[in-house]
Amino acid sequence: MTIQKSVRGMRDWWGTDVAHRRFIEQRGAEIAARYGVSWVETPLLEHQGVFIKTLGESSDVVGKEMYTLDDKGGDTLVLRPEGTAPVVRAFIEAGEQLPQKYIYTGPMFRYERPQRGRYRQFYQLGVEYFLRAPSVAMDVECIALAHHIITDIGISSYNLHLGTLGSREERMAYREHLVTFLEPYKNDLSEESQRRLASNPLRILDSKSPNDQALVAEAPRLMDYLQPESRQFFDDVCQGLTDLNIPYLVDNLIVRGLDYYGHTTFEFKAPDHLGSQDAFGGGGRYDGLMSSMGSKQDGCGIGWGLGLDRIMLILPPQTVHQAVTYVLSMGEDALCQRITQQLRHSGLACEMMLGDGNIGKKMQQAHKRGAAFTLVVGENERINQQVSVKNMQSSSAQDVSFGDLVGHLKDAQASV
Ligand code: HAM
Repeated sequence: MTIQKSVRGMRDWWGTDVAHRRFIEQRGAEIAARYGVSWVETPLLEHQGVFIKTLGESSDVVGKEMYTLDDKGGDTLVLRPEGTAPVVRAFIEAGEQLPQKYIYTGPMFRYERPQRGRYRQFYQLGVEYFLRAPSVAMDVECIALAHHIITDIGISSYNLHLGTLGSREERMAYREHLVTFLEPYKNDLSEESQRRLASNPLRILDSKSPNDQALVAEAPRLMDYLQPESRQFFDDVCQGLTDLNIPYLVDNLIVRGLDYYGHTTFEFKAPDHLGSQDAFGGGGRYDGLMSSMGSKQDGCGIGWGLGLDRIMLILPPQTVHQAVTYVLSMGEDALCQRITQQLRHSGLACEMMLGDGNIGKKMQQAHKRGAAFTLVVGENERINQQVSVKNMQSSSAQDVSFGDLVGHLKDAQASV
């Protein structure tokens, strides 16, 4: 066993990337707060029951991707593969009342085959709306919130694929028609789809195999098996998005990978940036989930999850540029430290270079590390209670008294 490497599909996160991910989470939460959405944080580990029936035993996530472990007390736990079921569990356990809107963020875990944009530990920003009854306006608002966040953080070009899975009864009726249509071509289907024909035939609709796709193009469409009420609901959601100027494509092939979905479903895709893993977010309605998890309240839900790892492949990293002042000590380490701390407490970014080494070398090092300003603190400065502040870009220098240092640097930074 090697301990020099991170676990396959799991990555270390470093400075700029962490800052960038947090920036997206922060912006998402700020915008969501305007919609009355509040934070929830659930543990990384849940009892396996939270996921098995809810996501569906025939789903890939439950069938092959869950990280399952037995703890020392004999409980079988799962590292959460997604956030919706845990948030419903938390809502029921806390005895919260409907309606509620929640936002959450954090790592999710799925034992998938790693590739670009697909990891075994990945990050989501998610939102869940829990409602008393299905509502076109809430479906539209929930999707509008995602669109608001996506565009605000700088993704200008993406496709919102919108579909409907209808009610359970409508899906069951459609499933039969689909299987009847595909059965004669069974041997032409990919291996995966042949297996799915028995276990979860709707998933064949979003197969990536070109052969399967050609067959699926001829297959009956779920939209044609909807009762008028479901069809009207879907049309109203479409109209609601049109009224808000949110562009979308009606997509009859969205099935989503998890069993809890019904009616409105959607995915956010950016094929130009992401290649085969082109969905950087997805979600939909899940009307039966609350009652199947034991809620006494007769509620329904809609939500989405945005894949932050994939969003970061679309957006160039945000280099948050902060002008750093380097305080160079010439044998006056204690004074250097006092000045540095004072500047930091007043909100300025500051680094120290201690010791009484060669000033030229220290200047060079500060320059290499991207110093915007340098101050040299030696015996003369201690006696005169003033320092020379050097602007490293213009090479100009100015004597500033200790008392004026904070104000001077703040003004100077503002003009960098
Ligand atoms: P999901 O479609 O399974 O939905 O995941 C949402 C997003 O998470 C995907 O669109 C993708 O961007 C990202 N994602 C999923 N798996 C990976 C992976 N292995 N590596 C990197 N990114 C990944 C859900 O999880 C639902 N809980 C969303 C939801 C909330 N539906 C209703 N409410």
